[in-house]
Amino acid sequence: MADAKTLIIAIDGPSGAGKGTVARAVATTLGLRHVDTGAMFRAVSWKAVHDQLPLDDDAAVARIASQAAIDVEGGIVRIDGHDVTRAIRTPEVDAAASAVAKLPTVRSLLVARQRAYGAGGVVMEGRDIGTVVFPDADVKIYLDASAEERARRRTADAGHSGGASGAAEVARAMAERDKADSTRAVAPLTLAPDAVYVDTTTLSINDVVERVMALVAQAARR
Ligand code: DC
Repeated sequence: MADAKTLIIAIDGPSGAGKGTVARAVATTLGLRHVDTGAMFRAVSWKAVHDQLPLDDDAAVARIASQAAIDVEGGIVRIDGHDVTRAIRTPEVDAAASAVAKLPTVRSLLVARQRAYGAGGVVMEGRDIGTVVFPDADVKIYLDASAEERARRRTADAGHSGGASGAAEVARAMAERDKADSTRAVAPLTLAPDAVYVDTTTLSINDVVERVMALVAQAARR
């Protein structure tokens, strides 16, 4: 029987589907490390904006992805020692991260870091965890929700500043990023054939966590 502490649990899906809340709860319950890979893309993008780099320059942004100290442990996000936990959740970094996420060298450098983080057991959330980072993950979940519900959750998210934008603008910008994330050439957001699809639109966080824990129990018996 596999030990739940060594399981690799991949949680993918678009923004606002509930990945963060669910991944954190599952990691806490199982005593596993939780890694938010979106925060890694956001931290690199924050630094690229800070350093005034062109966001389509793969080689320049890749230098950040290879050289910067990036730490996403325990809900605090740091890059080269700067606490950017709040600074990475702004409309400007939303857009920058979506652009940076298209860059192939940046992606492969971050994927290598993510694999190193996950060795030995992890709950990892992102867009390509079950398809690219850990194609052999023990549990693969794809969380989704209606566009309206995802925009509502994002607007209500206290950790994410909306800037001057209202709910309609949040929904519009989110739809644009979802489209970019799902149609880009490298590692687009797609449902892995062996992932369990969960529509969370009408589910509580507890419902979703229970669903994931049931899949974990099944995987631990294999
Ligand atoms: O999950 P998030 O909204 O914090 O992600 C920020 C951006 O990074 C978003 O445009 C999707 C992208 N991303 C990605 O391409 N691959 C991942 N594994 C995680 C995030």
